[in-house]
Amino acid sequence: MEKGKRFSIITFGCQMNVRDSETMRSILLRRGFEEDKPENADIVLINSCSVREKAANRAKIYAREFKRKGKKVIFAGCVAENEKDRIFELEVDAVLGTRKIHKVGDVAVSLLEDRRIMEVGFDEIPSFDEIPEPTHPVTSYVNISIGCDNFCSFCIVPYTRGREIARSFDSILNEARELVKKGSKEIFLLGQNVNSYFDEKTGYDFADLLYHLDKKLDGNYWIKYLSPNPRDFSYKVFKAIKESTHISHWFHLPLQSGSTKILKRMKRDYTKEEFLDLCYMIREGFPDATITTDIIVGFPGEDDKDFEDTLDVVEKVRFEMAFMFKYSERPNTPARRYKDKLPEEVKDKRLQVLIEKVNNIIGERRKEMLGRRFIILTEGESEKFENHTKVKTRENIKGVLKGKFEPGKFLIGRVTEIIGHTPIFEFERFCDYKGE
Ligand code: 5AD
Ligand code: SF4
Repeated sequence: MEKGKRFSIITFGCQMNVRDSETMRSILLRRGFEEDKPENADIVLINSCSVREKAANRAKIYAREFKRKGKKVIFAGCVAENEKDRIFELEVDAVLGTRKIHKVGDVAVSLLEDRRIMEVGFDEIPSFDEIPEPTHPVTSYVNISIGCDNFCSFCIVPYTRGREIARSFDSILNEARELVKKGSKEIFLLGQNVNSYFDEKTGYDFADLLYHLDKKLDGNYWIKYLSPNPRDFSYKVFKAIKESTHISHWFHLPLQSGSTKILKRMKRDYTKEEFLDLCYMIREGFPDATITTDIIVGFPGEDDKDFEDTLDVVEKVRFEMAFMFKYSERPNTPARRYKDKLPEEVKDKRLQVLIEKVNNIIGERRKEMLGRRFIILTEGESEKFENHTKVKTRENIKGVLKGKFEPGKFLIGRVTEIIGHTPIFEFERFCDYKGE
């Protein structure tokens, strides 16, 4: 009966959700459903993100809208897990938690029989072997762990994705090998805290995993990973990266705050100085490194001096890119209990100041690229620049290349111009992942 029934998936949030959506898409296709635009679909699946209130609300608005239009709605993802009862009350047809995505096929079939369903909870360990068909011709996401044990006081993830479970080394290696064989050029390893990875069977940690993924696969590919916790970056990981040829020198290090006092309240377990030392070590060890970050402003108790500390780290590290957020209070999180919350106007003002500072630095950083050559990977036609191809550097700076090129090609490009923060590359020659 699924034949001819159409579904559409709308994804909010991080790469973890993107990967989950790809998995659910593959399962539904295998069950005979067809993919279509939301307006033509019988079933709309909303894969929600709850990291900030705004994102969570947006998913709920979509759910209501599609219900009004007479669609069957499956509400999946982080909000589904965390606010299951409230979401069910939104009149959606199914609530599907983050560890139940493998059930999406059965859920979709039940909906067509007009049964409402709630599948949530962390009682099952999902099989990591539910491997999606690649949807992106160039980049593939590979889970190395799910869940998180860090319990940073602002963060909802431990409650939406459960405790950390590592995927077995063999399973990761097999999937990565398959992907490279099928032509993936960029393998993105995903985990909430990749550098706490540990495989019981082999005794391999994250550094060992990187080492093997670098040496044991045959092909033309880069390895990138998201996200490490600055606290857990070990010398062994640096060594593995240093001695590798495939692993990117892009370091995404979520700072969150530059103030040691606030970091302590956030339960981040590093100080301002330790974070700076880590960045100095990276800049020294990898002169071509890109360091990017996430920053939260307006955490409870953040005073002017604390905010100055954040600006100070920004000035010292000179991040190539940063995601900046106003603190958003989330259900269940320990930070809710802090009494010294900041007024919205103060948070707004600080965010504005921070964005301006970061943007100025990014502007300077991009100018430093002018005239230099980079190994770049082509991704597809640019929507913004006519007759240009989207590209990214090995260190994950995004730009465009003059002319039209097939996706998935490594080449050497020279930066001839910067428009806004976008480097414009000119083709010099094709090469392999190492630039040779
Ligand atoms: N409020 C604002 N930003 C948050 N983040 C996580 N939780 C919150 C919150 N409650 C940000 C962090 C994290 C990124 C994914 O989202 O900076 O690194
Ligand atoms: Fe990803 Fe966190 Fe959002 Fe869940 S809440 S989708 S883990 S960013």
